[in-house]
Amino acid sequence: MGHDGRVNNRLLIVATLSLAALVVVLVAAIGGGAWWVLAVLLVALLVLAVWDMTQKRHAILRNYPVLGHMRYLLESIRPEIQQYFIERNFDGKPFDRDTRSIVYARAKGLDSHKAFGTERDTSEIGYEFLLHSTAPVNPPEEPPTVRIGGPDCRRPVDISLMNISSMSFGSLSANAVIAMNKGAGLGGFIHETGEGGLTKYHRGNGADLFWEIGSGYFGCRNEDGTFSPEKFAEKALLPEVKGITIKISQGAKPGLGGMLPKEKISPEIAEAREIPMDKDCLSPASHSAFRTPREMVRFIEQLRELSDGKPIGIKFCVGSRVDVLAMTKAIWEERIAPDFIIVDGSEGGTGAAPLEYSDRVGTPLTEGLMLVHNALVGTGLRHMIKLGAAGKVATGSDIVKRLIQGADFTMSARAMMMATGCIQAQKCHTNECPVGVATQDPRLMRAIDVEDKGNRVFNYHRLTVREAVQIMASMGLTHPSQLNTRMLRRRVDHLSTRSYASIYHWLRTDELLNDPPAGWAMDWEEADADHFGEHARVDYLTERDPQWRSELLIPGREAAGAPVQGSPVSGTGSTLVDARRTESVPLTTSPMPRVSSLGEGESLSSHGGRRRAPQDPAPAATAGETPTDENEGLPAEAGERPERQDGEEVTQRGTTGRVEGEHRGEGRVG
Ligand SMILES: Cc1cc2nc3c(=O)[nH]c(=O)nc-3n(C[C@H](O)[C@H](O)[C@H](O)COP(=O)(O)O)c2cc1C
Ligand code: SF4
Repeated sequence: MGHDGRVNNRLLIVATLSLAALVVVLVAAIGGGAWWVLAVLLVALLVLAVWDMTQKRHAILRNYPVLGHMRYLLESIRPEIQQYFIERNFDGKPFDRDTRSIVYARAKGLDSHKAFGTERDTSEIGYEFLLHSTAPVNPPEEPPTVRIGGPDCRRPVDISLMNISSMSFGSLSANAVIAMNKGAGLGGFIHETGEGGLTKYHRGNGADLFWEIGSGYFGCRNEDGTFSPEKFAEKALLPEVKGITIKISQGAKPGLGGMLPKEKISPEIAEAREIPMDKDCLSPASHSAFRTPREMVRFIEQLRELSDGKPIGIKFCVGSRVDVLAMTKAIWEERIAPDFIIVDGSEGGTGAAPLEYSDRVGTPLTEGLMLVHNALVGTGLRHMIKLGAAGKVATGSDIVKRLIQGADFTMSARAMMMATGCIQAQKCHTNECPVGVATQDPRLMRAIDVEDKGNRVFNYHRLTVREAVQIMASMGLTHPSQLNTRMLRRRVDHLSTRSYASIYHWLRTDELLNDPPAGWAMDWEEADADHFGEHARVDYLTERDPQWRSELLIPGREAAGAPVQGSPVSGTGSTLVDARRTESVPLTTSPMPRVSSLGEGESLSSHGGRRRAPQDPAPAATAGETPTDENEGLPAEAGERPERQDGEEVTQRGTTGRVEGEHRGEGRVG
């Protein structure tokens, strides 16, 4: 009995089991045979009950011995119960059942059609749809490809509209990597290696590779974890390596480094990553090879030279817009551009990440992609840098949507995993993947037949890209370049839908250089090729006499002209706030002309920018740099110039303003 007179659950369970065990043992002693089996079972349960009651880790088992195990059992099969019995066709997460079914059907080369019409709620706010044409056309025989290679690239490569996004060996099993590699080889699309190194599993199956280099520099790493140009060159020159991706961040966990404890470094992983087994292996949060946008583009140039002119790109999830603009300034000032940028959305996948990061850190793909696209258009760089999009791209319409939002090509990770057999059990981080895709356990990994799954990856890719091309044909188009932002519409309230052209603010070519619009001007001004991070002036702190300003001053330091809190002062390009005069004093060594000092009609290309003078120390690997004239390297025109549209919204920092009364054509930008 408890204090309140109620029977104690624990004692009740143990007493019942003891009694039952006793009775059954007695009966078994007389009757023998099968009774002993029951007796052993009951005694085992009794032992378990006593163990549960006395252990200290699980409260529920202490209070509900034996029975409490049901909770853990049910919890462990919750995703399966959810998937098989509860979830509707369109509401599974991260990928709904319909999407998964399409991937599985296409992977098997089966019919992916559905009867009886959509189950989606087309009146739901946020519902998006593509506009078909009244005069559809036939799709081209061969799907279009995308040429990657900017002005300084000497080995451009044509890639598919959809490719395999970075997933390392280590997070994926060897068999999964081989199967994907075979699929990519058969289909002629790119297999990105992931930051875990270019391994033997990535080679020998005919696939073209983009080798990804993260902050751990696996495969091109000195003993102290820094970048090794010699080791990099060795692999970058391999014929199957068609391009290099510098990973800056990943949508599911941006800004997070990683530590692989030595206990988890298997001989295979040590070999793949070229790291010792007896030391913890650190992937820092940021790169040691560069710390600023300027150093980043110089690193790009170094890699380009070391790889004999192969395309070099960067991959990141968008954080601060100032940082993106700082990159564009660095590109201009150094006259070095990446050949491609892959924008990863915060909805992207991962082998393992803290939920807070996956849920709340980083910009979703739609916003991130359009931001980068606009930044490149507005700075006149869009035509020379190809833009990739990663983040839940699984179907033909996903591809078309991302192309409209500004991408030239897409990357897919989890859908490719599904084509390889993933059932979305979401246990990738446990080493217990039931289908052998995301595990290093050889017993589980053997579930993957690499020939069969390779064919599935090939089928899935082929049919999905074909569907994207077919959708474009239904829209009356034979090439992605004919897409424009009017063709994608979104329900914004219960009565109306609006096109992407009118919902979002699309910059004109060179607009940031010549006349940055109100919503961008402050970030543009703030961006500095020598800094990542929002670091410069914050206008509201420098206004004259705002009532609350005195609260922000550090007591006793105002008289000395000390900086105001919230306005960092170190380094070039930042702004000192003289607290006595409440005026900002911009400090910058940036050789780029202040935007406000540009004359009418002048763009940055009219200015010299920072070209390395012969006596400037060049980065180690820039020998053989091909000098580019600003007009050679940076062609002037980037295509259409859409104008603003009535009612379009202009995103200010933290607010949204509205531009009324200006005409804007709804063309695709850049
Ligand atoms: C298992 C797994 C491993 C991943 N490993 C990497 C990696 O090594 N490097 C990287 O840049 N992104 C990595 N990603 C992110 C993907 O490349 C991709 O950017 C992201 O998942 C969005 O694509 P998705 O929505 O199609 O999965 C990984 C994703 C998954 C699911
Ligand atoms: S089946 Fe589950 S554990 Fe395996 S790869 Fe897919 S989500 Fe990860």
